[in-house]
Amino acid sequence: MASFRKFTITVSLLFVTMGLAVAGDSPQEQRHELMEDTGGGAKTIGKMLEGENPFDAAAAMEALQTWAKVAGQFGDLFPEGSETGFDTEAKPNIWSDREGFDAALNAWAEAVDAAIAASPQDLEALGAAAGPVFKKCKACHEEYRVKDE
Ligand code: HEC
Repeated sequence: MASFRKFTITVSLLFVTMGLAVAGDSPQEQRHELMEDTGGGAKTIGKMLEGENPFDAAAAMEALQTWAKVAGQFGDLFPEGSETGFDTEAKPNIWSDREGFDAALNAWAEAVDAAIAASPQDLEALGAAAGPVFKKCKACHEEYRVKDE
């Protein structure tokens, strides 16, 4: 029975991986995926900060690394022609105010880098490191995402 359960878990993990692999190649879908990953990291860290989950330095660092990965890729996913479609929540001003959008992305990336460099080892340090990052998430969404947080 135990080995059967293990098998089921392995199979469902496989489906999750496949789901990601076949999610679609359009820039709209790719940036949606990246932001979903970003949201996952925010959940991991948010639950620790709210005391819902115990502090876990490795899991927090993994979430920060996910954000750094997203920060490195997100800006490439707004080519001409991807302004609409796939229920995108990207606002048209990403294309009309590309400089402002890049600046918002850079500000976020810098906050993420600083948080990684701080390598938080307790809850207080995590709050101090992640706080500025969350502010930049919000700032970018307010300007460049259709649905506000
Ligand atoms: C530089 C701008 C920017 C930053 C920084 C940013 N986001 Fe986003 N976010 C967007 C845009 C644009 C979209 C809409 C993407 C689309 O639909 O094409 C989005 C969408 C999302 C979504 C919805 C996923 C989807 O596409 O439906 C979540 C969740 C999200 N962001 C969470 C976060 C969190 C959490 C942070 C910070 C840890 C963050 N974002 C930082 C611009 C940003």
